[in-house]
Amino acid sequence: MARAAAIVMEHAGPEGIDINMGCPVYKITSNFNGCALMKEPERAAAIIREIKQAIGDTPLSVKIRLGWSNPDDFKKFIPAIEEAGAQLITIHGRTKEQGYSGKSDWERIRQAKDIASVPLLANGDIHESYQVWEALEQTGADGVLIARGALGNPWFFQVARNKGQGAITIDERIQVVIEHARLHVMQYGERGIVSFRKHLAWYFKGNRIGVDVPGIKELRGELVRVNSIEELEGVLGRLQEKRVV
Ligand SMILES: Cc1cc2nc3c(=O)[nH]c(=O)nc-3n(C[C@H](O)[C@H](O)[C@H](O)COP(=O)(O)O)c2cc1C
Repeated sequence: MARAAAIVMEHAGPEGIDINMGCPVYKITSNFNGCALMKEPERAAAIIREIKQAIGDTPLSVKIRLGWSNPDDFKKFIPAIEEAGAQLITIHGRTKEQGYSGKSDWERIRQAKDIASVPLLANGDIHESYQVWEALEQTGADGVLIARGALGNPWFFQVARNKGQGAITIDERIQVVIEHARLHVMQYGERGIVSFRKHLAWYFKGNRIGVDVPGIKELRGELVRVNSIEELEGVLGRLQEKRVV
């Protein structure tokens, strides 16, 4: 990993390197990577030490979970990785065994914040913008990391920063969806629209865009079947015409 970090430094010159010691995916952990490293704090510390040596002054951060199966593993793990050179820690408030079930334990993240001497970021189940402030207050963390909450909701950050003030209009939202779709197709080619359908489902799910539009259910059904940007624009155009506000 230190050699890999040196190659990344040479070719990409990043502002920082983040090591993922939180990944629960079998393909990763069965190879002793990701969250498996939380079972072996000494090995994790050795990896961090060597990477730190390879990257010099470039900041090194580490993402972890509460633990492998024991939700209190972090109590020993945090001091070990800090001592080895981790300069910022993000903690997802679940164990590897939990996967994505249960709830991110913000109370344990608060305990992690008490233990950590480097900046600590809270992660897990901050699904709505207003929860950023709840999580910061409840955990005392120095910041938060958002993952699933931003799927289909790139406005998450702006709304959180403005503490919920200033609504984003449906026209703005639709414009962003179309821009995103165009960029996606540029990246993945014409058939890219098929893999963009999941983003459409996220953009238009439940309480998001167009809840108050008559016939939104049918429009949603059409959206997840679109075969081209033109078709997408057509459906969104009809959505705009039909809306009440
Ligand atoms: C589809 C998916 C892919 C993910 N990939 C990564 C990854 O590559 N690296 C990483 O550190 N975390 C990854 N995560 C975990 C998230 O960063 C985050 O820790 C987790 O989803 C909990 O936060 P959330 O409740 O805000 O989604 C992934 C999560 C999901 C759902």
